[in-house]
Amino acid sequence: MRMYDIIKKKRDGGELSTEEIAFFIRGVTDGSIPDYQISALCMAIYFKGMTVRETCDLTFAVRDSGDRLEFSAINGIRVDKHSTGGVGDKTSLVVAPIVASYGVKVAKMSGRGLGHTGGTVDKLEAIDGFRTTLSEEEFIAQVNKIGLAIVGQSRQFAPADKKLYALRDVTATVDSMPLIAASIMGKKLAADDDCIVLDVKTGSGSFMKSVEKSRELAKLMVDIGKNAGKKMVALITNMDRPLGYAIGNSLEVIEAVETLQGRGPADFTEVCMTLAGYMLSLAGKGTPETCEELARRAVADGSALKKLAETVAAQGGNAELILHPETFKKAKYSHTVLSRSSGYIQSVDTEAYGLSSLALGAGRNTAEDAIDYSAGIILKKKTGDAVKEGEEIATLYSDNAASFAAAEEKLLAATVIGSEKPADEPLVYDIVD
Ligand code: URA
Repeated sequence: MRMYDIIKKKRDGGELSTEEIAFFIRGVTDGSIPDYQISALCMAIYFKGMTVRETCDLTFAVRDSGDRLEFSAINGIRVDKHSTGGVGDKTSLVVAPIVASYGVKVAKMSGRGLGHTGGTVDKLEAIDGFRTTLSEEEFIAQVNKIGLAIVGQSRQFAPADKKLYALRDVTATVDSMPLIAASIMGKKLAADDDCIVLDVKTGSGSFMKSVEKSRELAKLMVDIGKNAGKKMVALITNMDRPLGYAIGNSLEVIEAVETLQGRGPADFTEVCMTLAGYMLSLAGKGTPETCEELARRAVADGSALKKLAETVAAQGGNAELILHPETFKKAKYSHTVLSRSSGYIQSVDTEAYGLSSLALGAGRNTAEDAIDYSAGIILKKKTGDAVKEGEEIATLYSDNAASFAAAEEKLLAATVIGSEKPADEPLVYDIVD
């Protein structure tokens, strides 16, 4: 078998066989296929797509490219949640402790930021001392003891995805439906959870820009998971605007804590309660509606916040930061962004907001870049809000004051202001189960 022939077949719109897909993923994993051929096939898949059968084969090959986790030593139902990626998306920090506070086990493996989107592991590393690497024994013991552990992916876990992910990130091939489905579900199936709730983002800050495409991706991933014996549900949620007001690692941890204290932004709180409700419901705690009530109760009585603090302490982090988030290290510099016109914010390019935060130091341009954990943006105005010329629409934070000019221009260019108040958009567009 030759990689050249596989690339040519897909380039010309052909359907790859199970053996050809297995050959490709084997070569990605053992390094025998060079990056330029891997990238060429990703681009051919981007343009020509894949059938459901090809996507399933790719998913299973990614799943089997490394170690598969075995959670049988965890007592109880195991539930996971995975987002397709967004801006200001700190939902895992809220929903995981809510669900764990009801005795449901959350053995969570999370990712780092990709492109303009943030990642849970980067956010957790904003907490002093927090260890995102645990041995398998430590991980399982912690989940059994307190119900929740959150770690990054080890090198042996779905290694083919790691390689593909990095190449897709620099070859403009992230937003391909079969590649996203195989990446997410390959990793989810390599872990050993009973139930999975997918948060499929849609809109300008997500990899799928239209609701139709997001629904198609959700159905595909739900079918793959069900075929593998998992209980699945996918929510299609709005990423046409950042979630909440905070973008950037420690700023988002602070907003997540405020949400667990019952004083979070309305949009973010709503999405978290819906997701947590579905996670609890899949785990057998009741209907999604009654479970959403349970989720709200875990916030109101403080048990979810306590669970997050317990998890942070168990993983070596400074739990005082969770109990007193005002003590997080602040960025050295801040800069106020003022509106240049009056009216209503009609829409924002959420991806550009993510890139603006990246420019402040909150994310990486290359894998080697260090993150400025206190860098980011606090929005003062969001889509639908009235704004006057000269009024503050955001505050930028960074240890590098030289980054403010470019980040400000990007943010202002991404904010459309007009005279009419735009119609409200739903936060949750659809549920696919
Ligand atoms: N998240 C993933 O894990 N993979 C993708 O391809 C996109 C988002």
